[in-house]
Amino acid sequence: MSPADKPRLLPLFTSNPKGGRSSITCLYRCGNACAHDAPNTSDNTYFADVVADVVDRRKMLKAGAVIAVAGAGLATVGAGTSVATPGRHGGGHGGGLDFEPVAPNDLDALVVPKGYEQDVVIRWGDPVLPGAPRFDFANQTAAAQARQFGYNNDFCGLVPLGRDRYLMVSNHEYTTESAMFFGYDPANPTREQVEIAWAAHGLSVVVVEENRRGGLEVKLDRHYNRRVTMTTPFAVRGPAAGSKYLRTSADPTGRRVLGTQNNCAGGVTPWGTILSGEENFNQYFANADAVTDPVAKARNSRYGLSGGASQRKWERFDKRFDLAREPNEANRFGWVVEIDPLDPHSAPVKHTALGRFKHEGANVIVARNGHVVAYMGDDERFDYMYKFVTDGRYKPGNSRYAREHNKKLLDSGTLYVAKFTGDSPAAEIDGSGTVPADGEFDGSGEWIPLAHNDRSFVPGFTAEEVYVFTRLAADVVGPTKMDRPEDVEPSLRNGRIYAALTNNTDRGKAGREGPTEPNPRVANKHGHVLELAERGGDHTGTRFSWKVLLLCGDPNSPDTYFAGYDKTQVSPISCPDNVAFDSKGNLWISTDGNALSHNDGLFAVPVEGRERGHVKQFLTVPDGAETCGPVVTDDFVLVSVQHPGELDGASADNPLSHWPDGGDSQPRPSVVAVWKKRR
Ligand code: FEO
Ligand code: CA
Ligand code: CA
Repeated sequence: MSPADKPRLLPLFTSNPKGGRSSITCLYRCGNACAHDAPNTSDNTYFADVVADVVDRRKMLKAGAVIAVAGAGLATVGAGTSVATPGRHGGGHGGGLDFEPVAPNDLDALVVPKGYEQDVVIRWGDPVLPGAPRFDFANQTAAAQARQFGYNNDFCGLVPLGRDRYLMVSNHEYTTESAMFFGYDPANPTREQVEIAWAAHGLSVVVVEENRRGGLEVKLDRHYNRRVTMTTPFAVRGPAAGSKYLRTSADPTGRRVLGTQNNCAGGVTPWGTILSGEENFNQYFANADAVTDPVAKARNSRYGLSGGASQRKWERFDKRFDLAREPNEANRFGWVVEIDPLDPHSAPVKHTALGRFKHEGANVIVARNGHVVAYMGDDERFDYMYKFVTDGRYKPGNSRYAREHNKKLLDSGTLYVAKFTGDSPAAEIDGSGTVPADGEFDGSGEWIPLAHNDRSFVPGFTAEEVYVFTRLAADVVGPTKMDRPEDVEPSLRNGRIYAALTNNTDRGKAGREGPTEPNPRVANKHGHVLELAERGGDHTGTRFSWKVLLLCGDPNSPDTYFAGYDKTQVSPISCPDNVAFDSKGNLWISTDGNALSHNDGLFAVPVEGRERGHVKQFLTVPDGAETCGPVVTDDFVLVSVQHPGELDGASADNPLSHWPDGGDSQPRPSVVAVWKKRR
């Protein structure tokens, strides 16, 4: 690489002090979560010792015995969370990562490396179901939206359907009404606007096919294409199905919920279903202050449910969003949901066994002993990382029998929360990001069991309470408070688990926890990436080791760390959010809220060998957008471009982006395919 080709390194201290997200994104995406105190006010350290006495782990029903296999090697079978296809077309991202890094920029464009091409696969409002009306920004209807691609697509997953043909599933995390409607009055939304928003949430399933150029084309398939919205019935399953905490006047059974909200990231299972995390669900509910019972109040508060009207005022149009009238409705959100795109008539499922919190997503691996293990993050400052180990074992193959068996795996098992211990003296973890004397931020860890089906391991909590009020149960057992755990995903190549910790500017603030070895920086503005290795490669076990892979930020800044790689050679990266792997096991990271004052992007980094830590920026998304849902195959890369142009002062009446359609068009969240130009 010539000096002129080197990625431009940013000068120090250029960061926006408010971080990289616009106030509109904060308002609509997560209900201004960062403007409120982080809801984890527990002092959980003391209780860790208490519970150690109460819980006899030797008697714990672990899902399967530990199988000790000597040596390293591939720890896994089955498929992963994105589909890596053979590189039949000669494109290629899995091989050498031989692209020239894209430089940081503020363009209203999606920028890819030289020699790559791009195309929009689908955008907000494009038809999903056959016969859907063409998108008409000025004349939207709820009926049309329910047949069209929803708003603010986040996670994207592919399930193979045949040669060069896939089912593409997208999450529609949230709506930004001020950008969706001309003259939107947030104090007085109309019923039609609210019903459009209900239809713009949820999930889309579309058939896509690779085209001759190398991109992907949507097919209006009558059998498979599907929209899931805020009114689609979901089946509640697992140990808390039917719980008294889940019953409402509309559903006295506690087993049938309409809709899914704020679906953030997710994963693809080896049996061809999609897992999706319900994240900042709290913002959709009004009047938590009407709940006065102290126990219920504390539970609401731990989940960030607050008083007064909700931002979107849905409670005016459906009483279930009013906690004064339906105090349990909020308990029916905050779950991992599973949808089977291959069975378009099946009801999607809410999995209570995986606990209730602000689920970023869930990514599974099949352990060597056949049990399935799901890794999960609770995306809130000072909240926790979790895993779930199934009782049952994965049955390989695509037979109807195997699929039906596998689709029940997440109904029963053991839910754990993570405790990290550093191996360096506390005095060396001074909050500056300076690597301790042993050369690494690293240590050991323990998965602390919370519940196994109808058995609780948490003193003072029934199993039902562990599942529905997981955050409060976890507080009791002393897990480690993390800097916003987002995607937590196992690599199918090396068996290790990679966790994106987006940021936590509150770390070290007065009254808040200071630096710890796994979260070593105070005022952590740029986030970091952890690498976990289960002891003996056994994903069903309870012990692990861990190390910091990346301390993100400007590589010129002394508080950054790139696995020891030469920092003059790496791309600046800030606020890691979603992770994915290519077929060679390289880690791909998308960012949310680049606090280095430039656009978000997608980055690739090898995790093995001499190139470990060599972060390179593969693309940037338009100004105001977030990069989500990366899927990396040998033929193409897919990214979700969420909230393009969502900048302070932007609205439908004053659009600050015209991506992707150009001219004076309104910005539209979209899925984009990028591929290497064919020779
Ligand atoms: Fe929707 Fe955790 O980001
Ligand atoms: Ca150390
Ligand atoms: Ca995310």
